[in-house]
Amino acid sequence: MAEIAKPGNGRPERPGDPCLFVIFGATGDLTKRKLLPSLYNLAVHGLLPSHFAVVGAVRRDLDDATFRDDMGKALRDFATQPYDDDVWEGFRALLHVHSGDLGNVETYRGLAERLADLDRRHGTGGNVLFYLATPPEAFAEIVCHLGAAGLLRQEGERWRRVVIEKPFGRDIDSARALNTEVQQVLREDQVFRIDHYLGKETVQNLLVFRFANGIFEPVWNRRYIDHVQITVAEELGVEGRGAFYDRAGVLRDVIQNHAFALLSLVAMEPPSTLAGEAVRNEKVKVLEAIRPMQPEEILGASVRGQYGEGMVKGKKLPGYRAEPSVAPGSKTDTYAALRLQVDNWRWAGVPFYVRSGKRLARRDTRIVIQFKAPPLLLFRDAGLDTVEPNRLEIRIQPEESILVRMKAKVPGPAIRLQDVRLAFSYQDFGPLPQATGYERLLYDVMVGDATLYHRADMVEAAWKIATPILDLWESLPARDFPNYAAGSWGPAAADELLARDGRRWVNE
Ligand code: BG6
Repeated sequence: MAEIAKPGNGRPERPGDPCLFVIFGATGDLTKRKLLPSLYNLAVHGLLPSHFAVVGAVRRDLDDATFRDDMGKALRDFATQPYDDDVWEGFRALLHVHSGDLGNVETYRGLAERLADLDRRHGTGGNVLFYLATPPEAFAEIVCHLGAAGLLRQEGERWRRVVIEKPFGRDIDSARALNTEVQQVLREDQVFRIDHYLGKETVQNLLVFRFANGIFEPVWNRRYIDHVQITVAEELGVEGRGAFYDRAGVLRDVIQNHAFALLSLVAMEPPSTLAGEAVRNEKVKVLEAIRPMQPEEILGASVRGQYGEGMVKGKKLPGYRAEPSVAPGSKTDTYAALRLQVDNWRWAGVPFYVRSGKRLARRDTRIVIQFKAPPLLLFRDAGLDTVEPNRLEIRIQPEESILVRMKAKVPGPAIRLQDVRLAFSYQDFGPLPQATGYERLLYDVMVGDATLYHRADMVEAAWKIATPILDLWESLPARDFPNYAAGSWGPAAADELLARDGRRWVNE
């Protein structure tokens, strides 16, 4: 079977370093749905450190036994691997809880003592990974308290690392402020800003696809590529997260982080190595090459939308404004499309169209590289005045595949052309391991590899692109919301955005 190379330095798989894994927000959804099942999957694959324990830092008064029972139930609900009593019994004994008000200094003094004790009991060598899975308002406060309690100090071989969930800020100023607070108590190599898109198998494969194959790189530029489309389409609505979403919107929630992360992997220059900083340097350079738009450019290069009610598979779905905890006159964007220009030698003049939305026709995350048409039309005699140019599609979810669309001659005496696909599907590797997508990311923190995490300058570069758009949208609230029906492909204006350039979105 072919082997899938992974980003990082190609080291052989070994269990993570011994450590205590402290989760802030341990009773929340993320812990139950993703973190716990991922740790369990790492245990099944023998990648969990030999000396390891989890400590849930929670506000509620909880004891270890109750926490373990709650987590056991969550695991039965959300495990992606078959639940195995033996693995769980071993894992259960590694779970602990520390209760206290996360805004209170005493909680952290107590936590320091608790960690010192658990470190002795579990032999974790003083290494601690703190995972901030709380609402974002708490990030700075927790990091400050951890610093003040001396919990972030590294000595000798002993490491202290902090994973920070999204959203990292809500515009350029707040992201910079958060970076400044974080950097007062942590070195950059201790900070892991997570983006779960970078844990997806096909996203990781992008680096391999581009840089382990020689045939695409020579044509990966403005001479051969007409434009690039990046789509992160969701079929789901806001799923009970109305209160959060109504203050965020799709530009903040998905485009500034996930979509821009995909764009940087597609457009970056080849790094000198596939290890940490080299990859991150190139990713930042691409985002920095996207010129932030002036207000007068923004309206012509962006489209925003909000879904109204719609019929999907014979079922009537409510509009966004009717979702629980959403303001009845909400102006929040649930759809956005942008035309971006990467101002560097490789990409000058090649538009990058990026779109994402909720309640669209289908779940579909896909990168389309549209090549230029052949320079000369040799098939006029066959009644063809235009030949659709080649297209490379990197499908990320739900289908995981890479395909090139080409023209081929239909067998027979006449010249008739037909679209055919050269396709590679992840299914070709056999049944795929059922994973949450967080396994690789968590493992990487345990071995200190930050390649798949966002560096401070990357987050700021992404906000520099998004903030002027958000500011303009806020100063000129949309008057036509809702402007697309649930279950459709978004507002008509998004089709016009491409039609004006003589192009169209690839939806099929
Ligand atoms: C999250 C957003 O970061 O990504 C959600 O907050 C969104 O609103 C989700 O639904 C999409 O992730 P995935 O992995 O389901 O494509």
